[in-house]
Amino acid sequence: MAKKIFNLYISKMNQKETTAPGYLKYELKSFEKMPVKIWDDALEASRSVARSIELAIRQRQQEGEKIVLGLATGSTPIRVYEELVRLHKDEGLSFKNVITFNLDEYYPMPRAAQQSYWRFMHEYLFDHVDILPENIHIPDGTVPLEKVAEFCERYEKLIDLAGGIDIQVLGIGRTGHIGFNEPGAWETSQTRMVRLDHLTRHDAIKDFHSEDDVPYRAITMGVGSIFKARTVYLMAWGTHKAKIIQQAVEGEISHSVPASFLQKHPNVKVVLDKSAAEELTKMKSPWLAGTCNWSDDLICKAVVWLAQQTRKPILKLTDEDYNEHGLSELIIEEANSYELNIRIFNRLQHTISGWPGGKPHADDTNRPERAKPAKKRVILFSPHPDDDVISMGGTFQRLVDQGHEVHVAYQTSGNIAVHDWDALRYAEFMLEFSERHGSISEEERKMYEKVIRFLNSKDGSADDIPEVRSIKGLIRRGEARAGARFTGLQDSQIHFLDMPFYETGRSRKKPLGEDDIRIVAELMEQVKPHQVYAAGDLADPHGTHRVCLDAIFGAFHALKDEPWIKDCWLWMYRGAWHEWAVHEIEMAVPMSPQQLRRKRQAIFMHQSQKDRPPFPGDDNREFWQRAEDRNKELADTYRALGLAEYEAMEAFVRWKG
Ligand code: F6R
Repeated sequence: MAKKIFNLYISKMNQKETTAPGYLKYELKSFEKMPVKIWDDALEASRSVARSIELAIRQRQQEGEKIVLGLATGSTPIRVYEELVRLHKDEGLSFKNVITFNLDEYYPMPRAAQQSYWRFMHEYLFDHVDILPENIHIPDGTVPLEKVAEFCERYEKLIDLAGGIDIQVLGIGRTGHIGFNEPGAWETSQTRMVRLDHLTRHDAIKDFHSEDDVPYRAITMGVGSIFKARTVYLMAWGTHKAKIIQQAVEGEISHSVPASFLQKHPNVKVVLDKSAAEELTKMKSPWLAGTCNWSDDLICKAVVWLAQQTRKPILKLTDEDYNEHGLSELIIEEANSYELNIRIFNRLQHTISGWPGGKPHADDTNRPERAKPAKKRVILFSPHPDDDVISMGGTFQRLVDQGHEVHVAYQTSGNIAVHDWDALRYAEFMLEFSERHGSISEEERKMYEKVIRFLNSKDGSADDIPEVRSIKGLIRRGEARAGARFTGLQDSQIHFLDMPFYETGRSRKKPLGEDDIRIVAELMEQVKPHQVYAAGDLADPHGTHRVCLDAIFGAFHALKDEPWIKDCWLWMYRGAWHEWAVHEIEMAVPMSPQQLRRKRQAIFMHQSQKDRPPFPGDDNREFWQRAEDRNKELADTYRALGLAEYEAMEAFVRWKG
């Protein structure tokens, strides 16, 4: 069954079509200063870039010529490389005529280190294709300091000798950097040693244990070196890139956003997923760019935007407000602002519900959930062991209190995010406890001592031994169990899925596999839920939420012929990073101050994540603070639109397949 499930899902993904923003009837003004292509999701976008690279490689092969690729690292190009590897394995794409130059490398950085770009490139691409080792070039993080300048000069020469870069693949940092050309980089800069920006080092924490471990320097190709490439693909995925993409694409050319220099490049293509395109004018406020196709969602988006621009509640918006803000077209279509305001106000009002599992015996015409069955079976999927309480702790509590059969499924073990000192504390505890009660075998003692020795002498970047990973995973299990029990669940309703894609012991994960989907599908088959909650947050630093969501989509697809699945609704919550846009929200579950405090207590059960866990992402706040700020912000947004005032709110969007 496993193979079937996976293949079914993958073939469905292959059929997905590209969509450009369908809002605009025709464009009057273009705010974009570089050509932009927006895809439904990053996977599709990555495949399109990989296809273009493939075509270019094959074309050169036919001509008996070599091709030079400029390559990037980081999370952005991973799926491009995965697709290139697939093309090599399944469709015979050879890399024998390919020469590569990587953009950058941390300095100093040994090749074998987990975070080295040398290792990254080999793990994601070079080890899986037939590229000739002598054709691979990556800035060397081990060159002695006094030789770096010479090394950089030679790197530039090698690019020239190879004939210059044909296709350059780029990601973009939140500082606007390309390569490691941080704000202030000059347009003609060449390969050189640079100092990393504070924000870049902060973002890099996702791959290092702590900010102190992130190098301060890097060797990078310059803006000038990148500019010489014949074709450039600048790619970005996820909401966290939306702001900088808007500045790079629509803003003035400026040193403060090095990617904006690409506006002058004769053959640049910006490839985005929908989330990274969110701040572009044609997506954010398309009415400012041209005449729109007014769908209900777009109208709602426009009215919310107008209320926020004018700082007025929806019901106080006037015809003049619409006219003065480029929305007169909407008023013409809708006759007058009064009716329109009421319609949108009601739409938002109907999203608010204290009955996330449906209100029994009530008219549910305008409620987000069905009233029947009154008692629902629910599975709450939590990618990491604390996402359930962080992201929807209030709703979780309500579902339990309102008598639904709630199951929580922790998708991954979360074992990379536990500090060594916590694991050491537990290992010592187990050893001492067993000794005190005289129940320890020689074999067990040796195992504990091995773990303790390893942890005491561990070098920050070493991979954990399996026993340590297991201890870390169990620490998080215990915390998750405590959180779920606190919310009122029986142990039989707490499931640990330990999805295999996560179990690399490092922040770099394996791609989604058939076993991952099978594990999720089996639990769904067992529970036959009416409601499934899943993290629809696509911007977590390691992409774990995204893979966990893909596994759930895969399971839905695999189970599509089961009779019960038609009654199973999938509600998506956002993880600790971003909230849904107001016009997207389909259910907003309010919380009182007391309910919010209870949610905080459930989050506190995750002691290993308190203060500053390993790989904390780019936010300095603790998880409970992020959760509360976000939930309060949403309540404030609803209040400012003229809706009821609550202490906090959790928001959900329904996935309709
Ligand atoms: C990596 C590189 C950087 C990254 C950028 C985005 O070789 O040159 O410019 O492309 O920092 O990183 P991700 O893709 O991890 O968001």
